[in-house]
Formats: sequence, C-alpha cells, structure tokens
Amino acid sequence: MCGIVGYVGPRQAGPIILRGLQSLEYRGYDSAGIAVLDGPGELAIRKSVGKVRELTSFLSNGAPSGTTGLGHTRWATHGKVALTNAHPHMDCRGELAVVHNGIVENYLELKKSLLERGHTFASETDSEVIPHLIEEGLAQGKSFEDAFAPLVDRLHGAHAIVALWKKAPGKLLAMRRGNAGGLIVGLGQSEALVASDLPALVPLARRVCFLEDREIAVLTPAEVKVITPLGRVVPKRFDPVSTDAAWADKGGYKHFMLKEIMEQPQTVGSALRGRVDFEAGEVRLEGFPLSREQVLDLRRVLLIGCGTSLHAAMVGRRLIETFAGVPAEAESSSEFRYRNPTIDAHTLVVAIAQSGETADTLAAMDEVRQKGGRLVAICNAEGSQATRLAEATFSMRAGPEIGVASTKTFLASLTILALLGLQLGQGREALGRQLLQESLGHLASAPYLLGQVIADLGPYQRMARRFCHYEHFLYLGRGIHHPIALEGALKLKEISYIHAEGYPAGEMKHGPIALIDDKMPVVAIAPRDELYPKMLNNIEEVKARGGTVIAVGTQGDQELAAKTDHLLIVPASPPIIAPLLVTPALQLLAYYIGVQKGCDVDQPRNLAKSVTVE
Ligand code: AGP
Repeated sequence: MCGIVGYVGPRQAGPIILRGLQSLEYRGYDSAGIAVLDGPGELAIRKSVGKVRELTSFLSNGAPSGTTGLGHTRWATHGKVALTNAHPHMDCRGELAVVHNGIVENYLELKKSLLERGHTFASETDSEVIPHLIEEGLAQGKSFEDAFAPLVDRLHGAHAIVALWKKAPGKLLAMRRGNAGGLIVGLGQSEALVASDLPALVPLARRVCFLEDREIAVLTPAEVKVITPLGRVVPKRFDPVSTDAAWADKGGYKHFMLKEIMEQPQTVGSALRGRVDFEAGEVRLEGFPLSREQVLDLRRVLLIGCGTSLHAAMVGRRLIETFAGVPAEAESSSEFRYRNPTIDAHTLVVAIAQSGETADTLAAMDEVRQKGGRLVAICNAEGSQATRLAEATFSMRAGPEIGVASTKTFLASLTILALLGLQLGQGREALGRQLLQESLGHLASAPYLLGQVIADLGPYQRMARRFCHYEHFLYLGRGIHHPIALEGALKLKEISYIHAEGYPAGEMKHGPIALIDDKMPVVAIAPRDELYPKMLNNIEEVKARGGTVIAVGTQGDQELAAKTDHLLIVPASPPIIAPLLVTPALQLLAYYIGVQKGCDVDQPRNLAKSVTVE
C-alpha cells in the first residue's frame, strides 16, 4: 500500500513525480503529496487530500520548481485521512522530506523518546518519526547517508523509504527493509528514479534494479549506488525495463474494471499459451521444479492466498484433488503462519498473488521456505517479491490489472491451477489419457465460450437497475462453485458497498436461511453439473420463504427458468471450465450495480491493489 516515487536529474521533478504518482494510485489514494528541492535553496512541499488528480489540479498553475523531488500516494494506516497526515513528512527544521510505505511497529516508543528530546510532531502518523531520526544523526555531524542508514535497524516492521535533504541537492536516499511492497531504482539519461512499481519508472528509466532487504540506494543524476547499512557497496545488475510494464489505458471502456472483464477470453488464452502440447496431450508448466520422483512422493498440496487469490486457491484445491488424487487444502495466507503449520519436503505449497507483494502471502511464503516445503507461485507481477521467494513462478500473463477489484487475474489463476492439477495428475499417473485429452480440449474451448458470456451486457445492466437499491445479498454455490459464490459476493461488496455473503448452499439451512425475505436477493449458481439437483432444492427453499432468486444457469435450462425470478445464462460446460464462465457473469453483475449506484468502481473506498501491510 502507498505509492512512492522519486526523481533526480536535469528535468523538472514535479511533473515527473505527479505522473508517477498517477500510475501508482492503485496502491492507495486517500491523499497525496510531493516535495521538490530547488538547488540548495527552497524545499517546497505540496499535499492534498483525495486522489492524485486533486493534487494535480491544486498544482495546475505549476508544480514547485526543482530537479530533485519525491512524492507519495497514501493508504492510511496510522492517522486519519487528513492533510497533516499526508506524506511527505518533515523534520523539526523543515530541511528533510521523507515518504514511507510500511508500518513503524515501534513508533510509539520512538516517538516518545523523540518528544522527550524536544522534537515536535505535526501529524498522527507512525512515519513522521523517520525524518526526526535522520535529523538527529545530521545534528551529530553525520553525513546524509550515515544519518539515514541506521533506520534499517531502528525501525521495526517492513519499510520502503525515500528521503531528500535540503543540504544535499541532487541526491535521494532510498531504503528497503522487509516486504513492504518493493522499491525499484531506475537509470535514465543522466537521471535516476526510484518507485514502488515499474509503471512509475517506465517513461524515463532505461534500466532498473530491485532493492533487496536491507539495501540502501544512493541516487544521483550520474549513478545509483547500492550499499549495505554499513556502507559496503553491493554490486547490482540493472536490467532493461520491460515495456509490458507501461501504463495501461482504458481502451475506450468507461472503467478499467469493465475493460479487464472484457479482456478475459484473451487472458485465458494467454495463460494456456505454450503450456500445453495438444498433439502429445501433455501439460508443460515452465520451470516446474519437482522431479518425476518428487511428484510421485508428494503427500499434500497447500494453496495459499488472500481475498480473490484465496478464492482461486479454493477452486485449485478441488481441481488438484480431482485430477492428481493428492490431498489438497486451501488457506488464507494471513492465518497460515500463525498456526505453526506442518510443512515438509513432501508438501507442495502454491502461493497465489496477482500483485506478488501481498505482505500476508509473502510472510507465509517465508514460513514455507524456513520449514523446507516446496514452493511455487502464480503471479502477475514480473520481478515482484513473490516471484523471488518461489522456486518457480507461473506467470498469469494477464497484463496490467488496474481496477482494484481483481477480475482477469482471477481467471488467469484458475486456468493455471487447472493446468497444474492436470500436470500433477499426469506425473502421478492418476489421470487416464482420455480424461487428460478431454480436459485439455475443454480448456482450449474456454476463451470461445467466455466470449459468449460477455457478448451481451444488456441482462447485467437490466439486473443492476432492478437490484441496485437492495442492501444485502446472499450468494450460494456448491462444490467448485462455492468459492465462486464467495468471489461473487466479494466483488459486490468491494465495488458497490452492498453487504453480500457467499455461502455453500448446503449450509444455508444451518443458519442463513433465517435471513431470507423479500429484502435479500439470493444469487444461486446453478449450472447443470452433478450438484444441480441439490441446488434446485436450495432454490426451492429460498422461494418457499418469499426470497427472490437470481440464478446463474446453463443456456436452455427451462426447469431452472421456471423456478427462479431472474436468470443469467452461461453456455453448457464441463466442471473444469465452468467457474471460468460463471465468474464473469458475477463480475458484470457487481460492476453494473456499482456503476448504477455511482460508485468509483476502479478505486473503491478504503481499498488498495497491493496490500503490503499485515
Ligand atoms: C480482490 O478484488 C481484492 N482487491 C483483494 O481481495 C485481493 O485479491 C487481495 O488483496 C490479494 O491480492 P493479491 O492477489 O495481489 O495477493
């Protein structure tokens, strides 16, 4: 959470930083600020509450002049959303400007001792202790670097920090400690940049490098030097920057979310590309790290993730058990590490994270490594921390996902999980040749069938107009569609702020049925699969209690049409691809309800695309 960008070079820093912040806004958007240094003279700070566009329009008569600067877009943790809590933060003398991503876990103790030593604070944030700590080092006559370096040990928690000092024009210091959403340094033409993510660097940086834990970068227009806290130079390789990281546009759609939903046929196609040998009838996930013997020796597969990625894990669990015949479990990364999980070399852990920077998932991955488990990742962000912790990463290849609500990365994850299930089944000889061939054929047909689901947006728009005023929704599904019900409810909550619960339909009678009345529509996922008759019973139970049912069902299902109030149609499909077809229907329902309610669907309140705090 929080986006950081810094620039030092010959150009005006203000516009570059504002553009960078705009591309990082998905990380947080409750306030933003910049600091620009004009030679050794003036350090100008400008902040505003709200999105980056508020700051840009506040500066429409011109950003402060200067060629060294930094900026920040905030996702509040400590201290309410207010101008005083927006970054950059300063020291007592107004000579230092600091932007920070992370949580200073020992800030109360640090702040207390700084107050006792006479420092004054302007904000309620934990971050503000940082400029005051640097200030103390400088007051003792230390160099900027020597005053900055001890932060690595004095601040507890995970951090990304960038600082500038009025008396060191043409220099920025950056530091990474732990997993706080990453920090990337870039080199351009006699200029250097630092940012939380590649899109903020792409326009100017030609080569980039990722800072590792406990590394400090000293940026000047001529070079970027990376050092340890003790000042030893760390040799780093700067790689050419990938143009895939470039800022995406809406491609004519009103929102990124809609564009990303509509891209999903290509997303699934691209997740399959090069990973299946259709002629040989084989799956070949690139870099799969387990030998044939190790696959045969596997005793357990554990899938971890948060939010939408957890729902993908829950689908994956079922696919892996079905195809590979190996016990599989899915668990929230945020719970996993706090229960002393039993992991050994016979456990394969699959970590799912579109951002590759989710703090809970990274911490869980660390735990797996320490315990000697085998670890692969499914991830959409090239070079992210998750990809570096895992033995192998299967890239989602979904392209930039800008909408804060995950859509196409979910479908990419499901596709890769199906392939993983088949590959494990193949390796364990748990899967007959015919079933494997058929399953691959079904996956290959998914992009075409998905195209049918999103071909006509009319039903979703009509349904949204009809249901946008309701305050509660219940989503029901069984088997592989239980996690899809959870995902449908999550999408609705996130972007329309309507309370929605996902439930396994068989559990409804054990409690939630008490809630059923005409004020709570029930979205029932009821494709024609082996659990269809059970779902029909659940639908009857809702109807018998005066509930309204919106069913997602198979094309041509007259029986379902007769039993429900509203029907969203998906093509007939086998279970391996059914979730790929049902999910977009639920995404579109949530999207249009959010739009109908006038919500900011691309940047819902209180959320961020990368959740880099625990
Ligand atoms: C999804 O719509 C959410 N924004 C959120 O639940 C997200 O899936 C979660 O934070 C995990 O993100 P990750 O995939 O980047 O780890």
